[in-house]
Amino acid sequence: MSEKIKVLFVCLGNICRSPAAEALFAHHIKLAGIGDYFEIDSCGTGGWHAGELADERMRNTATNRGIEITHLARQLTSIDFEYFDYLLVMDHQNLADLKAISEQKQKNFYLITDFTQDFLSQIIPDPYFGDIKGFEKVFTLLDKVTNQVANTIFHQHKAKH
Ligand code: 4NP
Repeated sequence: MSEKIKVLFVCLGNICRSPAAEALFAHHIKLAGIGDYFEIDSCGTGGWHAGELADERMRNTATNRGIEITHLARQLTSIDFEYFDYLLVMDHQNLADLKAISEQKQKNFYLITDFTQDFLSQIIPDPYFGDIKGFEKVFTLLDKVTNQVANTIFHQHKAKH
């Protein structure tokens, strides 16, 4: 594998789910000793929060679990479809939004749970309008999901390249 595996996590606002997914994925690949094989980032389909740190509720939830989220929000661009190998989205609205704007010949965006064994066809629900319990639930879910995604993508990609 000569080139890094480039993975982009995508949600709506890039202040709750995708920055948490990015930080958790980074944590898992580092623990597994495969961090150097990856280049990762996150973004939102919307640009309302561009330049902002992640939602304080998500950052606090992460800090309480020993994970720091330092990402600054940015909006998805057409270049992302060319640059990244895998764009991993959180729900069906994200999927529909990417489908509408992607001009790639070969589809490279997926529901994040497509790369899991235990969460197939599940979505990562948007916690933004809920209470702190919703953030904790989403963080716990993303912790398990990103761990499986990291292993699956690493082995799949290695087999193909
Ligand atoms: P995210 O959550 O997509 O997980 O970052 C949201 C953040 C902000 C908004 C919606 C969802 N918003 O409407 O501003």
